[in-house]
Parts: sequence; C-alpha cells; structure tokens
Amino acid sequence: MPPAHSEAAISAKSGGAYVWFTSLSAALGGFLMGFDASVISGVVGFIEDEFQLNEIQLGWAVASLTLTSTLAMLGAGPLSNRVGRVAVLKAAAALFFVSAIGCAFAPGYSPLVVARMLGGFAVGAALIVAPMYIAEAAPAAIRGRLVSLNQLNIVIGISAAFFSNYLLLRLSQGQEPLIAPERLWRWMLGVEALPALLYLIVLQWVPESPRWLQLRGRGEEALATLIRINGAEGGRSEQEAIKASLAAESAGKPAGFAELLRPHLRLVLLIALTIGIAQQATGINAVFFYAPMIFEQSGFGDDAAFLQAVLVGLVNLLFTVVAIVFIDRLGRRPLLFAGLAGIAVFMLLLSWTFDRATYQLSDEAVAAAPAEVRESLAPLAGAVFDDEGDLRAALAGAGVGAEGGLESELVAGAVRVDTTLVLIGILGFVACFAFSAGPIMWVLFAELFPNYVRAAAISFVGLVNSGMSFLVQMLFPWELANFGSSLTFLVYGLVAIAGLAILARIMPETRGKSLEELEQALAPRRES
Ligand code: BGC
Repeated sequence: MPPAHSEAAISAKSGGAYVWFTSLSAALGGFLMGFDASVISGVVGFIEDEFQLNEIQLGWAVASLTLTSTLAMLGAGPLSNRVGRVAVLKAAAALFFVSAIGCAFAPGYSPLVVARMLGGFAVGAALIVAPMYIAEAAPAAIRGRLVSLNQLNIVIGISAAFFSNYLLLRLSQGQEPLIAPERLWRWMLGVEALPALLYLIVLQWVPESPRWLQLRGRGEEALATLIRINGAEGGRSEQEAIKASLAAESAGKPAGFAELLRPHLRLVLLIALTIGIAQQATGINAVFFYAPMIFEQSGFGDDAAFLQAVLVGLVNLLFTVVAIVFIDRLGRRPLLFAGLAGIAVFMLLLSWTFDRATYQLSDEAVAAAPAEVRESLAPLAGAVFDDEGDLRAALAGAGVGAEGGLESELVAGAVRVDTTLVLIGILGFVACFAFSAGPIMWVLFAELFPNYVRAAAISFVGLVNSGMSFLVQMLFPWELANFGSSLTFLVYGLVAIAGLAILARIMPETRGKSLEELEQALAPRRES
C-alpha cells in the first residue's frame, strides 16, 4: 500500500479536521462566557426602571454572576477530574441555556438574579475547563492555536452581545416595533439560549479528553481518541508517554489543591501566577468596560460608545487572529514579550498624553451645575489648569467634593487632551494585549502543569486571574478620581514592564513540545 493510504496517514489526516472541530466546539464556551459578561451592560438601565431598583440591588444584579462564576471556577477543576472534562462542559452548556430562558421569563427581580447566578456557574466552569480540554486533546504542533480559539471566542462573544443588544434595540423602535419595548431586556438576555443550545448539541460529538480517560484508567478509550487525532503510530506513542507521566505521580490519581504546595511545581506555578496577574493588572478590563468613559472624557462626545464597540472590538478580534497564526510558528515567548513591551509603550503614551492635558471649566458647565454650588463655581469658569489635581483642589475649594459624581463630571467636561493620541494609545494597547497576554495566558495555563494536577492548578490560577480582574475594575474609577488618568496609566505600564522582566527570566518556550515533554522539563518529580 502506498504510504499516503496507510492507516496512520489516513487517521492523521482526518484527525486534522477532527481536532479542529472538537476544539472549536469546546471553545464555544468562550463565546457564551464573553456574551454573558457584556450583554448585561445593555440591560441594566431597563431593569432599573422596571423593578425600581436601588443602587445595591442594581449592583447585585450585575455582580451576582461574578460571585457564582468564582465559586464555579474553584469547583470545576476538581469536578472535571471526577466526571470528565466534556461532562462539565455539557453541564455548563445546559446551565447557560437554563439561565438565558430563566432571565427571559423572570417574573420578578429575585428570579432574575437567581437565573443570572445559574449562568455564573456556567461562566466559571467553561472559562477554565474549555482551554484545559483543548490542550489535553491537541497535537503538540498546533496546541497553541487550538487553545487560542477559546480566547477568539471570548472576544467574538463580547462583541456579539453588543451588536445583538443594538439590533434588538432597533427592532423595538419605530411605529410598529417587532419587539415590545417593555420586553426588550428579556430578549437581550434570552437570545443567548440559541448559542447555548448549539453548544449543548455540538458537545454530543466531542469525545472525552484522552489524558483524562487515561487518568481514570480507561486506556482503551484514550487510545482510540489519540489515534483519531494523531494517527495510529503517533497515538500509541502519545499514550505511552501519558502513562509514564501518570505512573510517575501520586499513583496515577488526580491531585487536589494541596499538591500545588510541592516544591517541584514551584516554577510552573510562579510562571502561571505572574502571567495571570499581569494579564489583568495591565488594565485590559478597565479599558474595556470604561472605554466609553475614557473616550467621552477625551472629547469624543456621543460617538464614544460606537467607537468602543466597533474599533476596540475589531482591533481585539483582528490581533487575536494574529496570535492564532503565529503562536505555534514563532512561539509563545516572542509574541508575549513583544506584546508586553507594546503594552508598556502605549500605556506610557497614554500617561504622557494625559499628563500634558489642560483643564478649563466652561461657562456652560458652571451654568448647568446644581444651584447650591453654581455661585461658588462662577470664579473658576474660563480659568486654565495644567494639572487635574489642581482643578480638583479648586473644585473642592468651591464646595464640590469627590462624592456624588459631580466632580468627575466637571473634570471630564473640562479636559483638553490630544484625542488622536488617546485613540492611538487605547487601540495600540488592545492590539498588543490581543496578540500576547490575552490568548497566551490561557495557553500557558493549559499546558504548563503536569497531567495529574492540571485541573486543580488551572482552577487556582484561573481564580487568581479573575480576582485580579475584579480588583482592577473596582479600583479604576477610584484611581482616576484620586491619582488622575496619567498616574493610573503609568501604573499599568509599569506592571507590564515588571511582568516582562520576570517572565523573560523564568518562562521557557513551550512551542511544539508535548505536554509530557513539558512536564519532564519544567516540573520533574524529585524522588523522595
Ligand atoms: C480575559 C478577560 C478579558 C478578555 C478581553 C480574556 O482573556 O480573561 O478578562 O476581558 O480577555 O479580550
């Protein structure tokens, strides 16, 4: 038989399309996660009115999802050891579906929160189990790009929610709207049922992770999948390597969180924690969720929201594709380091641009201020301040303090800044994030840790990453008010430099090596 028709060649060939299908299917979880995170921004105004919510209730409607997704992140890794990676993804898909339907038909505020919380469990589980599953099934040569599909899906999901909200809003307007305006927010949350259902359906054809099957002693099934992906020869030798890796550790049983304290895991844990913290502490979600405010403050006016969705979303998408193209060709190190250096450059540019800004209160702004402070503000109208702090001090002197939002509003209206440089800074930053820290963090999370402890490890580092995201978003408005924009962006730039300095010293190149080769090189067990 000619070699092209050998069993191995045929399997390897069909394995190509097959593993792309299974990876893309698993990565749909990323789409749902991104969609869920950003869809709520279009909904809050409507539910606030309909249910007459106070600030705490409104905050809870948004943040309750974060709470359950955090819990799920901790539990999903260990659970996936017990029931399987794909089993957890199927449960997440079902929860996404139930949550979307529950939100659409929620009879009141509390049921709505409960439905969102159910979705939160799905978000946390999909976020960490999908990349882990993909890495465990992927051939080493294309593992980077397959895992990056998850990040691509997150990014598409974030933009899709914006466009879906926009489209539904249009359908609810006009003389004879297709959607009753009072039901608009229900549609916004409910449409997610469709991709959730699709997720549940495609997962039926996705086989369990071969590394998990082997971990559970189901060697024959593991081999069948490995052969389907890598061809007969490649599949058998992969299985031998996996067996050897499992035999070397904790009697072949999956390990829990306590295992992470062992010395041979110190290096991989340190690498993962550094990138997990740097990915968020360089400010991506502050820029993402506050972009309209930043654009508004920079004088882009009413186009701010549009600019955010279209430009930021498009740049994020485009440069994530750049990462997918190059991550297995150039490797993780060059992309990550170029990206972190770029992040530092654009953050420093933003810091410098805001440092050169001047501030001038207009007569109109003073005239529009509440009556009780209008008179004391009058002498400030027209005066030019070189520094945001000086303006804030002058406002304080006129009786306008940091609380209540008036101060920020006046500062935002007063700033005169080079808007072109702000736009370049923000888009440049998003581009650099998208081809580096965005996808590469998930790739490293999924490939750095040994087979037997991967699930617990990714639960832990995923949680640290999400905690950091929460902190950065929470602190951002406070930092702007207390330190000013220039110093806030400077700090993000310095974090990027620190991350680059640390990772350049400790992070190895992981491109093209099998998970078992990486385990040997990065976390060899010391006989004890
Ligand atoms: C991060 C998210 C972020 C997104 C932006 C993801 O990798 O985990 O926090 O919003 O990238 O593209």
